[in-house]
Amino acid sequence: MVISPPKPALEISATKTKAIKENILTPRFYTTDFETAAKMDLSAQDTEIQAMLAEMRADYNRHHFVRDEAFNQSWDNITGEARQAFIDYLERSCVSEFSGFLLFKELSRKLKDRSPVLAEMFQLMARDEARHAGFLNKAMGDFGCTMDLAYLTKHRVYTFFPIEWVLYTVYLSEKIGYWRYIIIYRHLEKHPENQFYPLFRYFESWCQDENRHGDIFKALLRSQPKLWKTWQSRWWSRFFLLSVFATHTLTVHERSDFYRVLGIDPTEFDTEVIRKTNETAARAFPSTLDTENPEFFSRLRRCSDLNLQMSEIDRTSQPKWVKVLRKLPFQLSIVGNLLQIYLMKPIDAEAMRGTVL
Ligand SMILES: [Fe+2]
Ligand SMILES: [Fe+2]
Repeated sequence: MVISPPKPALEISATKTKAIKENILTPRFYTTDFETAAKMDLSAQDTEIQAMLAEMRADYNRHHFVRDEAFNQSWDNITGEARQAFIDYLERSCVSEFSGFLLFKELSRKLKDRSPVLAEMFQLMARDEARHAGFLNKAMGDFGCTMDLAYLTKHRVYTFFPIEWVLYTVYLSEKIGYWRYIIIYRHLEKHPENQFYPLFRYFESWCQDENRHGDIFKALLRSQPKLWKTWQSRWWSRFFLLSVFATHTLTVHERSDFYRVLGIDPTEFDTEVIRKTNETAARAFPSTLDTENPEFFSRLRRCSDLNLQMSEIDRTSQPKWVKVLRKLPFQLSIVGNLLQIYLMKPIDAEAMRGTVL
């Protein structure tokens, strides 16, 4: 890691601990069942895994994450809500990249003597995520708020996920990460006047890292028949797709100022990212969501509107218990809408594979 906080660690961490608004949408830190991970039989996807390992060793982005002279200036021209929304974007992105780094590093360490191929793969992915987190952290430094990642490592609460859940969720977060980066990059290629900060120029090669990570997780997932051949796997696939998409819709709309500064309509961006990720997931998951169902996006939007209304309640000076009571019907309504989406007729990705894909 190449992170050097410019202020004393505890001072920064105290600031940042307060700055990260903890809620259900906050990126989390994960741990898993390393014993089960070590015992996974990967032989069904051996060719794919060896090919991915060779690609990861080649390290195409070795020289990519170097800040050029375009960063050497003051960014005080970015002010107000747009500045805050951008810092929030950097902060959440940095935490989720760093969360990936920690999980991959721990997997690599624990599997070292048991499953050398997997251990090397995770070590190479940790290398990439450390670069990503470090690069974002330096960007945060330009806005006067570097994160103390060492402090975060020690003080964050780790959520336990069985390895099967890790495979589904990390696959999805890598692929949605790919689409998020590439869509912003392509938009700014067409509208360079909106490129208010040089970070976005790095997104094209950056997203190729995420795409490769996603492909590795696809190979791991497909090496485990119970993750795509069973009826349970169909329900799990759609459950994780919906969780990731709902989180995306809510966070994009919470941060709409940031997207507007880029000249991007937040709702259009959200729709495109979700459609593309769902399409991509049909190559790995046995079942996906029907984003073309007219109710799909309208219900997701309703959840986002309800979430914004809850934020309004949070901003009032009412006692906490009043806020909790007032938010309850909104939360129930969000759960109801998500349940309706979950129960919609799904797409059978296994049946589609070999025909459309
Ligand atoms: Fe990353
Ligand atoms: Fe990644």
